Amino acid sequence: CGIVGVVGSRNATDILIQGLQKLEYRGYDSSGIFVTDEKNRESLVKAVGRISALQEKIGIEVNGSIGIGHTRWATHGKPTENNAHPHTSESGRFVLVHNGVIENYKELKTEYLANDHFIGETDTEIAVHLIGKFAEEGNLSTKEAFQKALSVIEGSFAFAMIDKNDATTLYVAKNKSPLLIGLGDRFNLVGSDAMAMIRETKEFMEIQDNEMVIVKKDSVEIFNQTGEKMERAPYTAELDLSDIGKGTYPYYMLKEIDEQPAVLRRILQHYYVDGQYKIDEEILKAIQQADRLYIVAAGTSYHAGFASKAFFEEMTKTPVELCIASEFGYNMPLLSEKPLFIYISQSGETADSRQVLVKTKALGYPALTITNVAGSTLSREADYTLSLHAGPEIAVASTKAYTAQISVMAVLAKAVGDYIGNIAASEFHLVKELSLVATSMVAVLAEKERIAEKVEEHLKGTRNSFYIGRGEDYYVSMEAALKLKEISYIQCEGFAAGELKHGTIALIEENTPVQAILSHKALAPHTRGNIMEVISRGAKVLTVVSDDLANEDDDIIVPSVHPYLTSLAMVVPTQMIAYYATLQRGLDVDKPRNLAKSVTVE
Ligand code: G6P
Repeated sequence: CGIVGVVGSRNATDILIQGLQKLEYRGYDSSGIFVTDEKNRESLVKAVGRISALQEKIGIEVNGSIGIGHTRWATHGKPTENNAHPHTSESGRFVLVHNGVIENYKELKTEYLANDHFIGETDTEIAVHLIGKFAEEGNLSTKEAFQKALSVIEGSFAFAMIDKNDATTLYVAKNKSPLLIGLGDRFNLVGSDAMAMIRETKEFMEIQDNEMVIVKKDSVEIFNQTGEKMERAPYTAELDLSDIGKGTYPYYMLKEIDEQPAVLRRILQHYYVDGQYKIDEEILKAIQQADRLYIVAAGTSYHAGFASKAFFEEMTKTPVELCIASEFGYNMPLLSEKPLFIYISQSGETADSRQVLVKTKALGYPALTITNVAGSTLSREADYTLSLHAGPEIAVASTKAYTAQISVMAVLAKAVGDYIGNIAASEFHLVKELSLVATSMVAVLAEKERIAEKVEEHLKGTRNSFYIGRGEDYYVSMEAALKLKEISYIQCEGFAAGELKHGTIALIEENTPVQAILSHKALAPHTRGNIMEVISRGAKVLTVVSDDLANEDDDIIVPSVHPYLTSLAMVVPTQMIAYYATLQRGLDVDKPRNLAKSVTVE
């Protein structure tokens, strides 16, 4: 979900709608805005579904000098208009938008709001009722009431609030959920990320957890939890608005798939300068000193961690463990003596990963974040950061961030390996090998029509399917299956090819589609055996094979690359399989149901 707010503008509605559109990529199922002005001409509009539905409901006359807007991804309560934000207090005086989850909302309701009337089922409504109660019954100023509510609310939140009695002030606070201030000339903004505000400004100011901010058109005052005023320097973001357009592409996902060879080259430009790998020596030392590396991530980023494990271990001589963020924080295994944590995250905002970072930092362990969003929460809070340089990724299904993550991990592994004088690293010519991957990708990307035809033939009308592979190809199978299911809604599992016969093969029946990935010389004959096993049980198989292992019956041939980097090459056709399967089903490729691009709740 996302938040935008503005104060001091002549056209709040327009700024809010533009901002919400920039946040659309994060995923949402309803939206709403509230705007007002000094003369109390106000409007509260909400709609279920797309922002275009909200726009249709807003009359052209609706304008304002201050406003807040929200896209909601349902957590507590269904996606209905009543549950959509903004929410208002019992008297209607306070209007609030919220991201996050208030954990003690039931207790707060029972303790303070037993007689209040609620229109929806959200935790947010409780928060705004609480502020109203404190202000009106406790006779507190709005700032005091807001602060008092913050002191009793537990959980994650980013809040932006307006008091209708004072149309010159935005009240803002955050804990665990992302929120930034945007600085304009005689107006100011607030937003979940810089992209939501980039049309209006490039100047931003960070808010830290448990701070409260009072934003007016020409001032921003930040207070810490004890009410002390904090100084904060603004910074300039280097985002380019043109990066966010989709150009002539029908969908962002296709544009982002196509950008991958260029992203690989851009990564080399950033990290290989004048014949040297440019990674901060502090990072190299930190990895050298660690006795074990724990990669913590979610979703596609977790899969990118798997794809990097083998080459990382070989080149750095350090064991690598993979951890699902949402599990690890609450189920920490016995850690090694000198762990180093690597957080891989496209957005840098995933709450599941962030809660682990907070815990491992409290334990005193060093952390490195690898992210696509400079200045994001995970990047600010870790000791070290490496950027992906993939450019904004808008489609909910991650593609170029995955390949960028593996590539940056390869750069890092190579730089550490050279630093410690490991022969496996010195014999691996990363610049050459990554360039060959880019060329392999270009060749596969030129096969769009043929791949689309294969997909039509292979997946038409199916409700389920399987990806199988061994070794690196198994890790790619996991990512390929996630891609297919998240956008086409075909149920799909990625399986270790040899494990299928130990249970899951029972699901194979006449015409079950199976996609097999083969890029590893020693493992391919075994996977070929597994393909025969499923064919004998009725499956139809589509093979994705590197050219050195291919024969005339194979379906999609991928120019072969260095064994460390096969995931980068093999994943591209599987992204295209997901894309075309979704297109052929008439679904919206970029905005799958129920999903958010950046999940800022645990
Ligand atoms: C969400 C997205 C996934 C993404 C995951 C982790 O679930 O829908 O595409 O892989 O979050 O996100 P991150 O930004 O941490 O890489």
